[in-house]
Amino acid sequence: MKTNELIKDLSLIKQTGTLPEDITALEIDSRAVTDGTAFVCQKGYTVDGHDFAGQAVKNGAKLIITEKELELEACQIIVKDSARALAFLADRFYGSPSEKMNVFGVTGTNGKTSVSNLIHELIRKLGGRSALSGTIGFDLDGDLRQSANTTSDLLTTQKMIHTAKEQGISNMIFEVSSHGLVEGRLWGVDFDVAVFTNLSHDHLDYHHTMEHYGYAKGLLFSQLGQDLTKQKAAVLNLDDEWFERYAQMTPHEVISYSMEKPADFYAEDIQYMADRTYYKLMSPEGAFDLETQLLGTFNVSNTLAAIAALYAKGYRVSDLVEALKEVAPVSGRMQLVPTSAPLSIYIDYAHTPDAIEKAIKSVMPFKKNRILFLIGTGGNRDKSKRPAMAKMASLADYVVLTTDDPRYESYESITSDLEKGMEHKGYACIGDRGEAVRHLMQQAEPDDIIIFAGKGHEDYQIIENTKYPHSDSNIALEVIAERF
Ligand SMILES: Nc1ncnc2c1ncn2[C@@H]1O[C@H](COP(=O)(O)OP(=O)(O)O)[C@@H](O)[C@H]1O
Ligand SMILES: [Mg+2]
Repeated sequence: MKTNELIKDLSLIKQTGTLPEDITALEIDSRAVTDGTAFVCQKGYTVDGHDFAGQAVKNGAKLIITEKELELEACQIIVKDSARALAFLADRFYGSPSEKMNVFGVTGTNGKTSVSNLIHELIRKLGGRSALSGTIGFDLDGDLRQSANTTSDLLTTQKMIHTAKEQGISNMIFEVSSHGLVEGRLWGVDFDVAVFTNLSHDHLDYHHTMEHYGYAKGLLFSQLGQDLTKQKAAVLNLDDEWFERYAQMTPHEVISYSMEKPADFYAEDIQYMADRTYYKLMSPEGAFDLETQLLGTFNVSNTLAAIAALYAKGYRVSDLVEALKEVAPVSGRMQLVPTSAPLSIYIDYAHTPDAIEKAIKSVMPFKKNRILFLIGTGGNRDKSKRPAMAKMASLADYVVLTTDDPRYESYESITSDLEKGMEHKGYACIGDRGEAVRHLMQQAEPDDIIIFAGKGHEDYQIIENTKYPHSDSNIALEVIAERF
């Protein structure tokens, strides 16, 4: 790209040296720099990109965007704020790809992965092509690649949109974390539809108060912008108390959904089965009998959100209802483990008090014997949610309290915090997660419902800083082979 074009309109303090005619790439990691790259010095939590500018020049960087003049043999552009400069440059370098695509953002405490995946799969079932970025990775219309975070850094985000667009994909779905919003990792992304699932206690080690956490999620709705010539929408959960505040953040259309009361999209006559859910979908296009493979009360809410999001982009409700029958649950979200033993075993990713409550309540309608529930929490992370998690786990008849990536914290420290919230005596504390799963399976009796929560799709356990292979379902199936 011509460097003149790249930096035209960029607000800068000063330029030193001669501007290279072209630049070949834009990077923030000096290790990724190749000949002709423009390197932006970004201040991160642990490292400061300014310290790596020299390395970037050695690797071939021809232009350095920096907040302070450095002793370097390369052209420098000094800016006041390199994070804002990066947002501008990344959008410009990749040709504002988000403006040319249908971009969906999904935020909320729980259900982001589930709703994003539903939108993505519905588009694909209906013959469209779609890319998805979130906890599970970067899924380029069926080709899954790894990603480090639920919401990637700003440059990676723009690269993903660009890659999808280059491949002729016209839809891009982002699972949007509150961290990503506060850190401006989505600056410059032109969202068409912003979806809110719900807000409950999580990540307070980072946000400190629910007010800040709620505000952080709200940034997504203000990011729809003020250009009313563009057809955009906010899809909001009417059952959540933040509905009003998020509606106030955008002048664009608000589409509501609810499990409890009339809204643009709402559910009536819900029937929960062990392997399917049915309900009557009430919509602006009339009533439909809806069937889904997704289980649990929260998935009723999630399917409503996904349908409303696609309706906002002109999809017909009848087509969406038809396609939904075929959509499988995301791996590890109330996923039924196939077994011939007379038990129902689910793997779930619930790791907040609200999600735990909903996971347990969702199996209650078909409870025949007991509900056995296993939950752990991560070490060295938000500790304040631990007792609240165990309090909700007490809804189950028997609870095993364990760990979920203990990192550097001791087993006892984690399980004793959890234990404070237990409301009955039917529980055991077993720090080693493998042993905890085995113990729970030893207690199982015919017709019990078993939920292993917290790990979901993850196939590892992090102890200190090492990832060890771990699978709740494999261990459960081993015990079943011994006992049933
Ligand atoms: N709408 C919802 N409300 C409450 N809990 C939910 C909802 N959707 C999912 N969950 C619970 O949260 C867990 C994580 O779901 P997921 O879709 O991965 O959410 P996120 O990406 O926001 O972490 C699920 O396994 C389930 O237990
Ligand atoms: Mg997620």
